[in-house]
Amino acid sequence: MSITAPVRRITVPQLRARKGGDPIVSLTSYHAHTAAIVDKYADFILVGDSLGMVMHGMDSTIGVPLDLMIMHGRAVVRGTKRALIVVDMPFGTYEESPNMAFRNAARIMKETGCGAVKLEGGARMAETIHFLSERGIPVMAHIGLTPQSSHVMGGFKTQGRDEDTWAAHINDAVAVAEAGAFATVVEGVVEPLARKITAAVNIPTIGIGASAQCDGQILVLEDMLGLNPWVPKFVKKYGDLGPAIEQAVSDYAEEVKSRSFPGEDNVYR
Ligand code: KIV
Repeated sequence: MSITAPVRRITVPQLRARKGGDPIVSLTSYHAHTAAIVDKYADFILVGDSLGMVMHGMDSTIGVPLDLMIMHGRAVVRGTKRALIVVDMPFGTYEESPNMAFRNAARIMKETGCGAVKLEGGARMAETIHFLSERGIPVMAHIGLTPQSSHVMGGFKTQGRDEDTWAAHINDAVAVAEAGAFATVVEGVVEPLARKITAAVNIPTIGIGASAQCDGQILVLEDMLGLNPWVPKFVKKYGDLGPAIEQAVSDYAEEVKSRSFPGEDNVYR
């Protein structure tokens, strides 16, 4: 029995039960301070491997190491108390075999305290999703545009423009749901396909650049805050923090240079 007060977070079964109900709100976060703000509004927070590009200046998510995901995952768990925290499994840590996926997913869960992991891939990952969820690891799937496969896909391209491909995408969604995924991200697919996918599965679909009719939505926090100089076309900016930060930094630099920086009181007490 723990002697610490129980933290009441949104659980995996609670999130799964939202299929067809109140839309699920989610955002990415990579550190404690922003996570504490997002925690008040989001049902789940994703520590996405997009952190490689957003926080560390990488040009894709391929190079993100497991230890980095664990470090940021820990920070987000520390900064939050309400939302379910989902941590991405980075490229190369789960595709080879269900055993390998279990070892790395267990490390993520034990070392971060998160409630679930996310991995990319549809039917081809079904066996692994089944293996993990049967062994106590809740899995969120990620289908449609899967950034870790961007080299195979020829870049970050909207999926499903050709209607002949729809059956394969719907098959992916059904396969991950039947394998035991409790929800799936549906990224970068044409709107009518996202609607069909949502209708075809009994688990919540979380759209990003997909359809308002998905069971929930996710955005990369820095994109919607206007902190990223380049964002995909579908992203609405709910804030414009880039110029606000620049103004603050330039005001500070000006005060330091002109020696009008608050001096006398500027000491640790
Ligand atoms: O890594 C990430 O941020 C993601 C979201 C875009 C869904 O996978």
